[in-house]
Amino acid sequence: GLKKKEVHVLCLGLDNSGKTTIINKLKPSNAQTQDIVPTIGFSIEKFKTSSLSFTVFDMSGQGKYRDLWEHYYKEGQAIIFVIDSSDKLRMVVAKEELDTLLNHPDIKHRRLPILFFANKMDLRDAVSSVKVSQLLSLENIKDKPWHICASDALKGDGLQEGVDWLQDQMQ
Ligand code: GTP
Ligand code: MG
Repeated sequence: GLKKKEVHVLCLGLDNSGKTTIINKLKPSNAQTQDIVPTIGFSIEKFKTSSLSFTVFDMSGQGKYRDLWEHYYKEGQAIIFVIDSSDKLRMVVAKEELDTLLNHPDIKHRRLPILFFANKMDLRDAVSSVKVSQLLSLENIKDKPWHICASDALKGDGLQEGVDWLQDQMQ
Protein backbone atom coordinates (compact mmCIF):
# COMPACT_ATOMS: atom_id res chain seq x y z
CA GLY A 1 0.00 0.00 0.00
CA LEU A 2 0.91 3.65 0.00
CA LYS A 3 3.47 4.68 2.55
CA LYS A 4 1.97 7.05 5.11
CA LYS A 5 3.54 10.40 5.78
CA GLU A 6 5.62 10.27 8.97
CA VAL A 7 5.22 12.94 11.62
CA HIS A 8 7.03 13.52 14.90
CA VAL A 9 4.95 14.56 17.89
CA LEU A 10 5.97 15.47 21.45
CA CYS A 11 3.68 14.33 24.26
CA LEU A 12 4.11 16.70 27.21
CA GLY A 13 2.36 17.49 30.50
CA LEU A 14 2.83 16.88 34.21
CA ASP A 15 3.50 13.45 35.67
CA ASN A 16 0.36 11.40 36.29
CA SER A 17 -1.68 13.40 33.73
CA GLY A 18 -2.17 10.32 31.55
CA LYS A 19 0.23 10.80 28.62
CA THR A 20 1.39 7.19 28.38
CA THR A 21 -2.16 5.90 28.89
CA ILE A 22 -3.37 8.06 25.99
CA ILE A 23 -0.58 7.02 23.62
CA ASN A 24 -1.08 3.37 24.54
CA LYS A 25 -4.80 3.63 23.77
CA LEU A 26 -4.07 5.02 20.31
CA LYS A 27 -2.22 1.85 19.34
CA PRO A 28 -3.97 -1.17 17.84
CA SER A 29 -5.43 -3.32 20.63
CA ASN A 30 -2.92 -6.12 20.07
CA ALA A 31 -0.05 -3.67 20.61
CA GLN A 32 -1.42 -2.13 23.79
CA THR A 33 0.19 -2.89 27.15
CA GLN A 34 -1.89 -3.64 30.22
CA ASP A 35 0.31 -2.22 32.96
CA ILE A 36 1.42 1.36 32.55
CA VAL A 37 4.14 2.64 34.85
CA PRO A 38 5.50 6.18 35.28
CA THR A 39 7.78 6.99 32.37
CA ILE A 40 11.48 7.23 33.11
CA GLY A 41 13.07 9.90 30.92
CA PHE A 42 11.09 9.32 27.75
CA SER A 43 9.86 6.60 25.48
CA ILE A 44 9.45 6.54 21.71
CA GLU A 45 6.10 5.17 20.61
CA LYS A 46 4.36 4.75 17.26
CA PHE A 47 0.79 4.67 16.09
CA LYS A 48 -0.97 5.18 12.78
CA THR A 49 -4.06 7.03 11.68
CA SER A 50 -5.80 6.78 8.30
CA SER A 51 -3.22 8.95 6.53
CA LEU A 52 -0.30 9.46 8.93
CA SER A 53 2.32 7.46 10.76
CA PHE A 54 2.99 9.11 14.13
CA THR A 55 6.25 8.81 16.06
CA VAL A 56 5.61 10.11 19.56
CA PHE A 57 8.20 11.20 22.11
CA ASP A 58 6.32 10.31 25.29
CA MET A 59 8.20 12.40 27.84
CA SER A 60 8.21 11.88 31.59
CA GLY A 61 6.37 14.67 33.36
CA GLN A 62 8.19 14.25 36.68
CA GLY A 63 9.93 17.42 37.79
CA LYS A 64 13.36 15.85 37.68
CA TYR A 65 12.92 14.91 34.00
CA ARG A 66 11.16 18.02 32.67
CA ASP A 67 14.51 19.56 31.72
CA LEU A 68 14.75 16.84 29.05
CA TRP A 69 11.74 18.17 27.13
CA GLU A 70 13.50 21.06 25.43
CA HIS A 71 16.09 18.83 23.78
CA TYR A 72 13.34 17.39 21.58
CA TYR A 73 11.52 20.60 20.67
CA LYS A 74 13.38 21.04 17.37
CA GLU A 75 12.30 17.57 16.24
CA GLY A 76 8.64 18.00 17.11
CA GLN A 77 6.18 18.89 14.35
CA ALA A 78 3.24 19.01 16.76
CA ILE A 79 2.59 18.83 20.49
CA ILE A 80 0.11 16.81 22.51
CA PHE A 81 -0.21 18.45 25.93
CA VAL A 82 -2.06 16.45 28.56
CA ILE A 83 -3.71 17.88 31.69
CA ASP A 84 -5.19 16.00 34.64
CA SER A 85 -8.51 17.87 34.83
CA SER A 86 -9.05 16.68 38.40
CA ASP A 87 -5.73 17.99 39.73
CA LYS A 88 -6.76 21.54 40.66
CA LEU A 89 -3.78 21.97 42.97
CA ARG A 90 -1.27 21.48 40.17
CA MET A 91 -3.16 23.27 37.39
CA VAL A 92 -0.96 26.31 38.07
CA VAL A 93 2.16 24.16 37.68
CA ALA A 94 0.80 22.84 34.38
CA LYS A 95 0.24 26.45 33.26
CA GLU A 96 3.82 27.39 34.22
CA GLU A 97 5.21 24.49 32.22
CA LEU A 98 3.02 25.37 29.25
CA ASP A 99 4.09 29.03 29.37
CA THR A 100 7.76 28.01 29.55
CA LEU A 101 7.21 25.74 26.56
CA LEU A 102 5.46 28.43 24.51
CA ASN A 103 8.26 30.93 25.21
CA HIS A 104 11.09 28.57 24.31
CA PRO A 105 13.13 29.77 21.30
CA ASP A 106 12.66 26.41 19.54
CA ILE A 107 8.86 26.70 19.86
CA LYS A 108 8.02 30.39 20.06
CA HIS A 109 8.06 31.38 16.40
CA ARG A 110 6.86 28.12 14.89
CA ARG A 111 3.31 27.45 13.83
CA LEU A 112 3.16 24.08 15.62
CA PRO A 113 -0.28 22.59 16.16
CA ILE A 114 -0.99 21.90 19.85
CA LEU A 115 -3.59 19.36 20.88
CA PHE A 116 -4.66 19.59 24.53
CA PHE A 117 -6.32 16.69 26.28
CA ALA A 118 -8.31 17.72 29.36
CA ASN A 119 -7.92 14.18 30.64
CA LYS A 120 -9.49 12.19 33.50
CA MET A 121 -12.95 13.57 32.76
CA ASP A 122 -14.39 10.47 34.42
CA LEU A 123 -13.26 11.62 37.87
CA ARG A 124 -15.73 13.37 40.14
CA ASP A 125 -13.30 16.24 40.79
CA ALA A 126 -12.63 16.96 37.11
CA VAL A 127 -13.33 20.46 35.80
CA SER A 128 -14.71 20.95 32.28
CA SER A 129 -12.47 21.38 29.24
CA VAL A 130 -13.73 24.99 28.99
CA LYS A 131 -12.58 25.57 32.56
CA VAL A 132 -9.20 23.95 31.84
CA SER A 133 -8.70 26.21 28.83
CA GLN A 134 -9.53 29.23 31.01
CA LEU A 135 -7.16 28.13 33.78
CA LEU A 136 -4.36 27.70 31.23
CA SER A 137 -5.25 30.95 29.36
CA LEU A 138 -5.33 29.12 26.06
CA GLU A 139 -7.13 32.05 24.41
CA ASN A 140 -3.74 33.83 24.52
CA ILE A 141 -2.25 31.38 22.04
CA LYS A 142 -2.72 33.30 18.82
CA ASP A 143 0.14 32.17 16.58
CA LYS A 144 -0.45 28.42 16.70
CA PRO A 145 -3.46 26.29 15.86
CA TRP A 146 -4.70 24.58 19.02
CA HIS A 147 -7.60 22.44 20.08
CA ILE A 148 -8.75 21.04 23.41
CA CYS A 149 -10.61 17.77 23.90
CA ALA A 150 -12.08 16.35 27.06
CA SER A 151 -10.84 12.79 27.43
CA ASP A 152 -11.08 9.67 29.50
CA ALA A 153 -7.99 7.73 28.53
CA LEU A 154 -9.07 4.63 30.45
CA LYS A 155 -12.14 4.22 28.24
CA GLY A 156 -10.59 6.00 25.24
CA ASP A 157 -13.32 8.65 25.12
CA GLY A 158 -12.30 11.84 23.30
CA LEU A 159 -9.02 10.50 21.93
CA GLN A 160 -10.22 9.93 18.37
CA GLU A 161 -11.67 13.45 18.11
CA GLY A 162 -8.32 14.87 19.16
CA VAL A 163 -6.24 12.78 16.81
CA ASP A 164 -8.59 13.51 13.90
CA TRP A 165 -8.01 17.22 14.50
CA LEU A 166 -4.25 16.71 14.67
CA GLN A 167 -4.23 14.69 11.47
CA ASP A 168 -6.13 17.47 9.68
CA GLN A 169 -3.52 19.99 10.84
CA MET A 170 -0.64 17.91 9.56
CA GLN A 171 -1.78 16.90 6.10
P1 GTP B 1 4.50 10.24 33.69
O1 GTP B 1 5.00 9.19 32.75
O2 GTP B 1 4.97 10.03 35.11
O3 GTP B 1 4.79 11.62 33.22
O4 GTP B 1 2.88 10.10 33.78
P2 GTP B 1 1.84 10.02 32.55
O5 GTP B 1 1.37 11.37 32.21
O6 GTP B 1 2.40 9.20 31.45
O7 GTP B 1 0.61 9.27 33.24
P3 GTP B 1 0.17 7.74 33.05
O8 GTP B 1 -0.32 7.49 31.68
O9 GTP B 1 1.28 6.87 33.56
O10 GTP B 1 -1.10 7.68 34.02
C1 GTP B 1 -1.01 8.00 35.41
C2 GTP B 1 -2.18 7.36 36.14
O11 GTP B 1 -3.41 7.98 35.74
C3 GTP B 1 -2.35 5.87 35.85
O12 GTP B 1 -2.73 5.23 37.04
C4 GTP B 1 -3.48 5.84 34.84
O13 GTP B 1 -4.23 4.64 34.88
C5 GTP B 1 -4.33 7.00 35.29
N1 GTP B 1 -5.14 7.60 34.22
C6 GTP B 1 -4.73 7.99 32.99
N2 GTP B 1 -5.74 8.51 32.29
C7 GTP B 1 -6.82 8.47 33.08
C8 GTP B 1 -8.20 8.88 32.92
O14 GTP B 1 -8.63 9.43 31.89
N3 GTP B 1 -9.02 8.67 33.99
C9 GTP B 1 -8.60 8.10 35.15
N4 GTP B 1 -9.50 7.93 36.13
N5 GTP B 1 -7.31 7.71 35.34
C10 GTP B 1 -6.45 7.89 34.32
MG1 MG C 1 4.25 8.36 31.09
